[in-house]
Amino acid sequence: MILLKKIVIFYFSGTGNTWWATGRLTEYLKGMGADVTFFSIEQVDTELSDRLIAGCGTVGFGYPIYGSDVPEIMKDFMKDLAPSGKDAFVYCTQWLWSGDGARVSAEFLSNKFRIKWAEHFAMPNNVSVSAIRLPYTNDKRRINKILKRADRRIKRLVLKIVSEKPFLRGFSAVSACSGYIQRGPFRYFFGRLRNDINVEIKKCNFCGYCVKLCPVSNLILDGNTVSTLGSCIMCLRCYSFCPRMAVTYMKKLHNPERGDPYRGPVDGFDPELMQ
Ligand SMILES: Cc1cc2nc3c(=O)[nH]c(=O)nc-3n(C[C@H](O)[C@H](O)[C@H](O)COP(=O)(O)O)c2cc1C
Ligand code: SF4
Ligand code: SF4
Repeated sequence: MILLKKIVIFYFSGTGNTWWATGRLTEYLKGMGADVTFFSIEQVDTELSDRLIAGCGTVGFGYPIYGSDVPEIMKDFMKDLAPSGKDAFVYCTQWLWSGDGARVSAEFLSNKFRIKWAEHFAMPNNVSVSAIRLPYTNDKRRINKILKRADRRIKRLVLKIVSEKPFLRGFSAVSACSGYIQRGPFRYFFGRLRNDINVEIKKCNFCGYCVKLCPVSNLILDGNTVSTLGSCIMCLRCYSFCPRMAVTYMKKLHNPERGDPYRGPVDGFDPELMQ
C-alpha cells in the first residue's frame, strides 16, 4: 500500500447527496491513514482553492449530475483553477444514470490535473418537482438502502485510490456517446430550464430562507416579492427546503399529496451545512 499524500476535496451539493458521499469518502480515506480536508465550493474562492491544491498531493472533485452534465457552478469553479499537474479523482452522484457523468468534468480539468480515478454513485433522486412527477422518496428506510449500496462503491473507490490503481468509469467511447445523448439536449434547453424556478407570492411569507440558501444568489427578496435573476443552476435547493413549499417549477407548486419535496439523505439534514 502506498503512503497517501495529503488530499483536498472540493464538492458541490444542491440537496445533500454529494455532501453525504463526500463525508463517507473522507472518512474512509482518513481510515486508511490519509490526511484529508474537504470544502464545499460555496465556502472557498479560487485563490484559497489554488493555495490548498498547491499544498496537497491529490485533489478530489465531487458534484451531482444534471442532465449528464456538471452543474454550472462547478464548471465555473473548475475553469477558474490554476493548472497544477496534480493527481485527481472525480466522482458524481446521480439518481439512475449519466453515461459519462464523471468523465465530462475532464472537459474542464484535463489540462490542469491528471485524472486518475473517476466514479459514479447512485443516490436518491432529488428531482421532486410536481411539474415533472419523477418518483422520489423521503422514506429513510428506502433511502438507507440506497446509501448502503453507494457506501460500498465509495469504499471500493477509496481502495483504488489508496493502492494507486487508476480507475476511470465513464471514459469509454460508448459511455461518452450515451452521456452526450442526454447532455446535448440538456445544454441546448438549459437557458429555458433555468428560468423555470419562481415563487408563488400567495404562499410565501417572505422569510428570505430561499434567498439565503441559493448558491448563486439567483433569488432576490424585495419587500413583498421574491424575484429571480436568471442565473439559476437548477440545484432545487430552494424548492426542496422552502418551509412553505412556495417555490414553483414550471409554474407548478409542490403538490403536498406527494409528501414533502426531497429533504436530503439523512434525517434533519441542514442545507446550510454546505454554505
Ligand atoms: C436538474 C437536475 C438534473 C438531473 N439529471 C440527472 C441525470 O441526468 N441522471 C441522473 O441519474 N440523475 C439526475 N439528477 C438527480 C441528481 O443527480 C441526484 O439526485 C444527485 O445525487 C443530487 O445530488 P445533491 O443532493 O448533492 O444535489 C438530476 C437532478 C437535477 C436537479
Ligand atoms: S423560503 Fe419560501 S416562504 Fe421563505 S421567502 Fe423563500 S419562497 Fe418565500
Ligand atoms: S434559484 Fe433555487 S434552484 Fe435555482 S440555483 Fe437558486 S436555490 Fe438552486
